[in-house]
Amino acid sequence: MKTNWVERLWIDGPWRTPFQVHELNLFKRFHDLKGASRVLEIGCGRGVGALLILKAFNPAHIEAVDVDPSMIRRAQRRITPEFEGRINFRIDDAQDLSFPNRSMEAVFNFGIVHHLEDWERGIREVARVLIPGGLFYFEEIYPALYAGPVFRHILLHPKENRFDGEQFRTALAREGLSIIDGYRETKYTIIGAAIRAN
Ligand SMILES: C[S@@+](CC[C@H](N)C(=O)[O-])C[C@H]1O[C@@H](n2cnc3c(N)ncnc32)[C@H](O)[C@@H]1O
Repeated sequence: MKTNWVERLWIDGPWRTPFQVHELNLFKRFHDLKGASRVLEIGCGRGVGALLILKAFNPAHIEAVDVDPSMIRRAQRRITPEFEGRINFRIDDAQDLSFPNRSMEAVFNFGIVHHLEDWERGIREVARVLIPGGLFYFEEIYPALYAGPVFRHILLHPKENRFDGEQFRTALAREGLSIIDGYRETKYTIIGAAIRAN
């Protein structure tokens, strides 16, 4: 489900960037991905996260997808000569990814799985496109935060079939994604990395 204009005030502004830099530093601490050739970001939004992933992990190539064409147009405008040929922004649905099985060494999720109507299918897709031993880096929020008394009136999220931490971790395990020690979880959020079993 696309974001509404209220959420875009948050995710489209420069104030979002330091949070993503901080999250990437944590991702690196959970597991430093060295020498990856091909990685994916789902729900890339305005595209800053993909550029930060390139800088932080230095993969040879990143595919970054979003279901919202206006986001992809904005992201494409960020490709400077420095990144040309190493990044591809395109429209795609995280619940039905157009990439082959076992084609990505890592998948990055900066807070988009809770936007999926069928979030478990999204996790299945992540596991499908990862190679054995591939990494899923995730940062997620729970209804306790985005469906609380204020935010539920001003933000746009699916209302049915939501997940909390335990359900999210269970879904990862079901798809053969083992959470690496050190992940951080509160009542509202989780941030961590999981590795796909062989
Ligand atoms: C909360 S925003 C996060 C954007 C960006 N990852 C960030 O952290 O700033 C969620 C993003 O997920 C995208 N999205 C929602 N449903 C999606 C889907 N089914 N497939 C791919 N992207 C989706 C939205 O268009 C939006 O850009």
